[in-house]
Amino acid sequence: MIDVTNTAAASCSDKNKSVFSHTREIIQPDFIAADFIAAGLRMDERQQMDGLDLLNKLKNDSIPLIFFDPQYRGILDRQSYGNEGERQKGRALLPQMTEEIIHSFLTDMERVLMPSGHLMLWVDKYIVCSGVHSFIEGLSLQLVDMITWDKGRMGMGYRTRRRCEYLVIFQKRPARAKGVWRIHDIPDIWSEKIENVGRNHTHSKPIKLQTRLIEAVTSTGDIVVDPAAGGYSVMEAAVSINRHFIGCDLS
Ligand SMILES: C[S@@+](CC[C@H](N)C(=O)[O-])C[C@H]1O[C@@H](n2cnc3c(N)ncnc32)[C@H](O)[C@@H]1O
Repeated sequence: MIDVTNTAAASCSDKNKSVFSHTREIIQPDFIAADFIAAGLRMDERQQMDGLDLLNKLKNDSIPLIFFDPQYRGILDRQSYGNEGERQKGRALLPQMTEEIIHSFLTDMERVLMPSGHLMLWVDKYIVCSGVHSFIEGLSLQLVDMITWDKGRMGMGYRTRRRCEYLVIFQKRPARAKGVWRIHDIPDIWSEKIENVGRNHTHSKPIKLQTRLIEAVTSTGDIVVDPAAGGYSVMEAAVSINRHFIGCDLS
């Protein structure tokens, strides 16, 4: 005979053991908007600045979420961009980042992230295949997830033609989902077309996906950072759901 009392107790204790949660228990440290202004930073606006200077102005352990979409110098070297048509010429004209510069960005991002905060790094398939570990060597960041973005249109490629980009998700230690990541229906393959509205950056990233991720790992009024913001898709996503944005671009 089944002991109903014990079965109910077991299922209740299983619930407590669940790795999921729909609430956030971690809280971003309070901030004073005037402090940002005094440091020369504007909130919820575009600003022209070197991203490393912007990160330098942010306090240790203060930010729950940073997006980083670097202009990888190595990709241009590997693929001889600039010889593949107008779009690639546009890419080649953007300010490039060497691996050393990218490492400097990541080192400062780790300092600025609060414990269990997230860093979302856009990469291409060559970086996925060769591994991201060299980027985070010596840093207190743990690889926790990856999302494939299907752009719904074909790009270039000498063999197959590129249609996807990848978002690698790191978490500052301690890495945990429960009490931190509170939306559990985001698929790890995401289809979203970028509408060509004339104002897009060459590298615009999907606003709906970024919005869902911001919702998952921040609370209302929290700050989202993007120190190489390009067309400011992260700002658009953050502000649309009542988060603050601090970010910049060189140009
Ligand atoms: C791949 S794009 C970002 C696109 C952006 N995620 C979007 O959705 O529009 C990279 C950007 O990094 C900028 N950049 C390069 N070096 C930088 C630096 N040191 N500081 C700030 N921005 C930089 C480039 O000007 C370029 O606009």
